[in-house]
Amino acid sequence: MSGTGMSGTGGPPGGGGTGLPGGGGTGGLPGGGGSGGSAGGTRLHVVSGKGGTGKTTVAAALALALAERGRRTLLVEVEGRQGIAQLFETEALPYEERRIAIGPGGGEVFALAIDAEQALLDYLQMFYKLGGAGRALRRIGAIDFVTTVAPGLRDVLLTGKACEAVRRRGPDGGERAYDAVVMDAPPTGRIARFLGVNNEVAGLARVGPVHHQAQAVMRVLRSAETAVHLVTLLEEMPVQETADGVAELRAAGLPVGAVVVNMVRPAHHLPAVPEGQAGERAVARALAAAGLPDAAALAAPLLAQGREHAQRLALEKAQRAELNGLRLPVHELPLLDEGADLAGLYRLARRLRELAW
Ligand SMILES: Nc1ncnc2c1ncn2[C@@H]1O[C@H](COP(=O)(O)OP(=O)(O)OP(=O)(O)O)[C@@H](O)[C@H]1O
Ligand SMILES: [Mg+2]
Repeated sequence: MSGTGMSGTGGPPGGGGTGLPGGGGTGGLPGGGGSGGSAGGTRLHVVSGKGGTGKTTVAAALALALAERGRRTLLVEVEGRQGIAQLFETEALPYEERRIAIGPGGGEVFALAIDAEQALLDYLQMFYKLGGAGRALRRIGAIDFVTTVAPGLRDVLLTGKACEAVRRRGPDGGERAYDAVVMDAPPTGRIARFLGVNNEVAGLARVGPVHHQAQAVMRVLRSAETAVHLVTLLEEMPVQETADGVAELRAAGLPVGAVVVNMVRPAHHLPAVPEGQAGERAVARALAAAGLPDAAALAAPLLAQGREHAQRLALEKAQRAELNGLRLPVHELPLLDEGADLAGLYRLARRLRELAW
């Protein structure tokens, strides 16, 4: 495999060294830069799905896939688990955008683990010019307190930061800092709430900067610039959860993108599996004729395996039909025998590159 994982430290595009969104001023705020109609279609890819189905893996592969030559993508993590760092085999990500890989298309992939506490300090600084007072708040544990008692606020900060990266422009205010932002998002059961929380906040704070900020974030999330993709497996529970998630997202007015079926196993289409004792004897005879020793003992387990495989195919067919009923693009990714290591990640990315996002 020629996966060119790398971990140089290119500076964050347009981010300045302050860790402040947009490099200061209000120009970097979501919605601060005018209507921002983009020619490139989706710019914020939110990747959700049932726990353990491969959200982090698919988000990372998608960020790689979208990094065409001359392009930059940002992969963001919001759950504070350092899954991205693990996947790219690099040290834990600080709260800072840093280049972690070159995509198979030759573009750059940056990554950021959004920290709610730090994001809160950013916003306080931006709105209220707190300066050193922010550090004092942190020292006495006030920030921790606020984000713990008001988990909704935490989500506002996380989505706000991601949307800020989507809207950010370079220092001259021209070019976009990132061509696409991919979010490794919370699981299906929490995604509509997570993305919709700004709506509640905009309603609570009817005027002022918080109201405007929340409204600006919702504008990005509900626009054609955003797509929420759901990762699933070809199994009953995750498929059901996907169907429920799609319904919930649609009801909340959030744009659903594609369904990504992950870990698809190869299908060997077998002839009908012979049944009963007669079938078993026939298989034993065929095995013996082919020169296999112990043919009689082999026939029964072989048939059992065949039946199991046929059952799985039938189940998968039913799950595929269920997914097709959602009227969304459905993309399949193979189960990697060697697991989703760095080389596997590039394999998935190359597969995703062939698709329209
Ligand atoms: N296509 C694949 N082939 C083989 N293994 C895979 C594939 N995709 C993901 N995996 C593996 O499955 C496991 C779960 O993947 P991942 O961590 O991406 O899921 P997740 O949905 O982000 O999980 P969580 O809900 O815990 O955040 C990991 O060990 C990963 O390496
Ligand atoms: Mg994950």
